[in-house]
Amino acid sequence: MRLGVNIDHVATIRQARKTVEPEPVYAALLAQEALADGITVHLREDRRHIQDSDVYQIKSVIKIPLNLEMSLNEEIVKIALDVKPHQATIVPENRQEITTEGGLDVAAKFERVKDITKKLKDSGIIVSLFIDPVEGQVDEAKNAGADAVEFHTGGYANAKSGREREIELEKLVNACKYAKSLGLHVHAGHGLAYENVKPVAAIEEIEELNIGHSIIAKSVFIGLKEAIRLMRQLIQEARWKLV
Ligand code: PXP
Repeated sequence: MRLGVNIDHVATIRQARKTVEPEPVYAALLAQEALADGITVHLREDRRHIQDSDVYQIKSVIKIPLNLEMSLNEEIVKIALDVKPHQATIVPENRQEITTEGGLDVAAKFERVKDITKKLKDSGIIVSLFIDPVEGQVDEAKNAGADAVEFHTGGYANAKSGREREIELEKLVNACKYAKSLGLHVHAGHGLAYENVKPVAAIEEIEELNIGHSIIAKSVFIGLKEAIRLMRQLIQEARWKLV
């Protein structure tokens, strides 16, 4: 299973003072040294954390894949086509939200999603759609031409009770199996943390997890490389159980 480390919140700290540190590109290089499989950044329309220059800089120095999270906004699409990340993950975006609240409603924006997916793919970029773990969305993602889906794990991560968590996990498991049966690559992320990652990491169909906030939060106390190492260890322990 690949671990994509989302470094947006390194930029959040920098932007809190609108200064030059801490540098996301340095975090990307450290994550690479810590054997992260990829770097994920979300270039939001409001540029609240990652800036355009970060994306270009990170892409030019890292040797591991860059996964660019992006909305369907025309300006952002133009930047994606110029940067040519290894992978683009299309996410919904709402200016008021603290973080991405739900998956993309592919059916509601079908023609636009299909068009952007084609443009990105024609440019050699792998396209993943960030969706809720719902069969109808998986069908639409497949019809739109996506290579992969990333399932929003927020429902699972934010469950208020053990029972609710079990239900959300079951939804994820079923959606993962369904997506794989349609030939889609399966990713997952959002709200995953040291305490809750293992049951998700144990879902066999998932090939990639994208994790940000909890790793960056932990790195404040133990350093980024150690925080990544610990997360990777938990994921590995969950995967070993499958062998
Ligand atoms: N995957 C996607 C598509 C996201 O939008 C985010 C948040 O930027 C993440 C994964 C990572 O979520 P978290 O920061 O909660 O780990």
